[in-house]
Amino acid sequence: MSTGTHSKELPQAAKPSGLKGMVLAYLMRWVHRGEYNAAAEALQLGRNDRFLEIGCGSGFFLWKYAAGTARSTGLDHSADMVAMAGRRNHRRVQSGTTEFRQGDASSLPWLDGSFTAAAAIATFMFWPDPSNALKEVHRVLQQDGRLVISLGWNADDGMDHTGHAQKYGIKLYSGEELRAMLESAGFSHAAITYTRSFMTPRLMICKAVK
Ligand SMILES: C[S@@+](CC[C@H](N)C(=O)[O-])C[C@H]1O[C@@H](n2cnc3c(N)ncnc32)[C@H](O)[C@@H]1O
Repeated sequence: MSTGTHSKELPQAAKPSGLKGMVLAYLMRWVHRGEYNAAAEALQLGRNDRFLEIGCGSGFFLWKYAAGTARSTGLDHSADMVAMAGRRNHRRVQSGTTEFRQGDASSLPWLDGSFTAAAAIATFMFWPDPSNALKEVHRVLQQDGRLVISLGWNADDGMDHTGHAQKYGIKLYSGEELRAMLESAGFSHAAITYTRSFMTPRLMICKAVK
């Protein structure tokens, strides 16, 4: 696994905040649209699902793709993103079918087996403690629950990410590294596929099952 830095003062992409963070989060909904589609295709959310998105940012994915689920929940460590996601999804928040919480991926504030499906879209590469975070996601998923992780930048895409790793403090994972981490977190099956997306030659989509 190649590593980047993870300083206290996180870059905007890793923890969007203030006006700059809100503009960035707004732009992400355009830049990540191919990634959202690929993640939604892998997730196949239905009306019985209780869905968790970790690193939900502005809440656009939940709003567009999880509106028909029984429950949807977003977690982000940025207070400003939690507020923005709540505003975007205010109808479902008011009706009690959606909630947003501020917190870190490695310590999830939910009971075991709370969710049927989870996703981490364009966020996993920022997590400082990915192994514990995967154990946490495994814990809060019910048996047969599925997890989809999308990584637009990854160690299999043939790009030189040295500058990105330094600038954004990201870690770059290969499919095999991610599969091994998922297995040691307890997932029984992890399928990795690659597709093209906007400004992303080899978007990695990983679907794991508990
Ligand atoms: C590049 S943005 C992607 C946001 C959203 N998934 C999207 O595609 O629009 C990364 C998001 O992950 C969140 N994030 C990064 N590290 C996190 C962590 N350890 N725990 C929770 N959220 C995290 C950031 O605050 C940010 O909102």
